[in-house]
Amino acid sequence: MKLIVVAGARPNFIKVAPLLHAMVRHNAECVAGNGAFRPLLVHTGQHYDVMMSEIFFRELNIPNPDINLEVGSGSHAQQTAAVMVRFEEVCRRDPPDWVIVVGDVNSTMACTLVAAKLWIPVAHVEAGLRSFDRSMPEEINRLVTDALADLLLTPSADADDNLRREGVPEDRICRVGNIMIDTLVANLPQARARQAHVRLGVAPGRYAYVTLHRPSNVDRRETLEAVLDELLRLSRDLPVVFPVHPRTQKSMEIFGLNGLRSPHFHKIAPVGYHDSLCLAENARFVLTDSGGLQEESTYFRTPCLTLRPNTERPVTITEGSNRLTSLSTLAGDIEAVLNGPERLGRVPDLWDGRTAERILGILLENPNPHVSLARRDH
Ligand code: UD1
Ligand code: UDP
Repeated sequence: MKLIVVAGARPNFIKVAPLLHAMVRHNAECVAGNGAFRPLLVHTGQHYDVMMSEIFFRELNIPNPDINLEVGSGSHAQQTAAVMVRFEEVCRRDPPDWVIVVGDVNSTMACTLVAAKLWIPVAHVEAGLRSFDRSMPEEINRLVTDALADLLLTPSADADDNLRREGVPEDRICRVGNIMIDTLVANLPQARARQAHVRLGVAPGRYAYVTLHRPSNVDRRETLEAVLDELLRLSRDLPVVFPVHPRTQKSMEIFGLNGLRSPHFHKIAPVGYHDSLCLAENARFVLTDSGGLQEESTYFRTPCLTLRPNTERPVTITEGSNRLTSLSTLAGDIEAVLNGPERLGRVPDLWDGRTAERILGILLENPNPHVSLARRDH
């Protein structure tokens, strides 16, 4: 089975790793290449800094990409269009049986659009998540990707319900679980060995781990300044570890907010995956707007405050350790977390490290998707 596996941005690398590893394991068990997977890894180049891309390949033992489209940064239209033009060439040169896309970034949507128009079947891993907030670029990406993908591999029951409500036929929806947790489970020993908090000089359970990169939090001066003020205030009571995403770094430079300093405010460059897991597990609480960190906090049962009006990952609230917060309620919410238990919630179903295996099982049941796709009124 020839597959193109697409990855473009930091969270994508974490999501494709277990799929690629599971394919290698499966192939090793196949007799003389029978039923084997032949993945071609396409990196779109959406993220390109060493600490946003290369480090994940190294830490997660992801093979070097077969093809790098090197699209780099740009406006949404520029980036999406560049991925489309370059990815179309790749698909035309050697059409695969499947294109596998993950998550909700521009690269996910762009490659789905290309494949759908070439009648190449698309499987979307992490399908069905909805924030119901179209001011988020990711929500547009999710809607378009799921409208076009042939196989919708979902992490949770809420995702299945969202797709059904949108009229997706039942036979395209398969609940497989949370692929991020496959990577987490597989990397826990290395993450724990990193002792990232010790290297930063903060004690376990005695610091806040903060990541912020959503346009709604970091693209406007007033908002970003208010958030940073809150973080500085917090750091007087509890050390703050804040690896700064390049989007946020750029805003801080443009708005002249780079000079904010305080002894316990650890504003650092983005960290690798193992350090990030280690910091999330040992934090007193996580403050974030990241999708992945909401899930990792839930797995570790570390209290999490999500600085957003909504989340496309509601199980992290209903079952996990997450709650939403806003600038106006942040100080009170932090206080409530600090007065509350150190571990919260429970780990949802199918967050068990076996999602990639389940996905491969489903792909093996659909070895010749071209046939069913051609039959469909596409
Ligand atoms: C993207 C995704 C977002 C995801 C996030 C994960 C979209 C629309 N957004 O947001 O869903 O949560 O990745 O981290 O796809 N930059 C660098 N170096 C890099 C990458 C980016 O300096 O390696 C800077 C550039 O100035 C760029 C900006 O960051 O313009 C934003 O990058 P972009 O990929 O457009 O969006 P993200 O905010 O990273
Ligand atoms: N992460 C990381 N280094 C950092 C910040 C985050 O490795 O400095 C990890 C985090 O643990 C999670 C993933 O990156 O596994 C989440 O990616 P991101 O927040 O960029 O995107 P999102 O999940 O919001 O799409």
